Amino acid sequence: MKPVIVVHGGAGRIFKEREDGSRSGVTRAALKGYGILKQGGSALDAVEEAVVLMEDDPHFNAGCGSVLNEKGEVEMDAIIMDGKNLSSGAVSAVKCIANPIKLARLVMEKTDHMLLTDQGALAFARAMGVPEVPGEKLITERSLERWKKNLEADSNPQEFQKDLGTVGAVAIDSAGNVACATSTGGLSNKRVGRVGDTACIGSGGYADNAIGATSTTGHGESIMKVVLARLTLYHMEQGKSPEEAATEALNSMETRVGGLGGVIVVSRSGDWAATFSTKQMPWAAVKDGQLQSGIHTGERDTQPVEKALSSIAS
Ligand code: GLY
Repeated sequence: MKPVIVVHGGAGRIFKEREDGSRSGVTRAALKGYGILKQGGSALDAVEEAVVLMEDDPHFNAGCGSVLNEKGEVEMDAIIMDGKNLSSGAVSAVKCIANPIKLARLVMEKTDHMLLTDQGALAFARAMGVPEVPGEKLITERSLERWKKNLEADSNPQEFQKDLGTVGAVAIDSAGNVACATSTGGLSNKRVGRVGDTACIGSGGYADNAIGATSTTGHGESIMKVVLARLTLYHMEQGKSPEEAATEALNSMETRVGGLGGVIVVSRSGDWAATFSTKQMPWAAVKDGQLQSGIHTGERDTQPVEKALSSIAS
């Protein structure tokens, strides 16, 4: 099997001045994951490492750079899933953890559970020796400004909910195993304790070697209503291509519940798609030594991996 990885940096509205940073962030993440796959690494390792890079990148709403809840704190959700045996692990409403996706993987591999939340997730992280970081370390100037603006009496909730964010990755490795990983700070000024789609299996992501893998982004409550990740795979089970399946699933989310978002998909045969109904979604994919990427609808830049690697190094 030829390895493939696809990543996204969140469907929503990307301001012009943040486009270059978002573009290079998804490119780096895709190249990192592809490097792991090319060396014979697993799809699971590839998606985890790709998401770690984006959690560490302040351009994205995940890890450092997460949006803030109503109290001005970072509270994050993450999920990872292994298509080989349908194992998955997730965390929700976690604070003071730099890489929630790593904690989600520990939930998958070291517990009999699938989702740990808030204080329970924190106690588990401590038991596993996961280092805690001061909450302020995850807060950027931009997320703080946005939080304050959203608190102003004349702020328009419709407007700030366009800044959706979330990061994710899907991959297939040379053994034909698929995996997905998704991580987010959620919605700006959300209620304390709000759990979004990202932590919920079938909504924020799904992976099954018999079909493929998906990671979603967009308005969490809408995604949960239609179980967007599993809905996309359902359409593929019915014979649709990844592009057709993602488009159909996003269309029904918009028609049924008025929600916008994005989906990345890889099929069990290595076909892939990066599709969105929002204005923008930074994405990147690598297959056959070619990197493809874009942000705006219809945009698709292509370059050899070697060229992309050398421009990152310079
Ligand atoms: N899709 C991210 C969230 O709504 O939490």
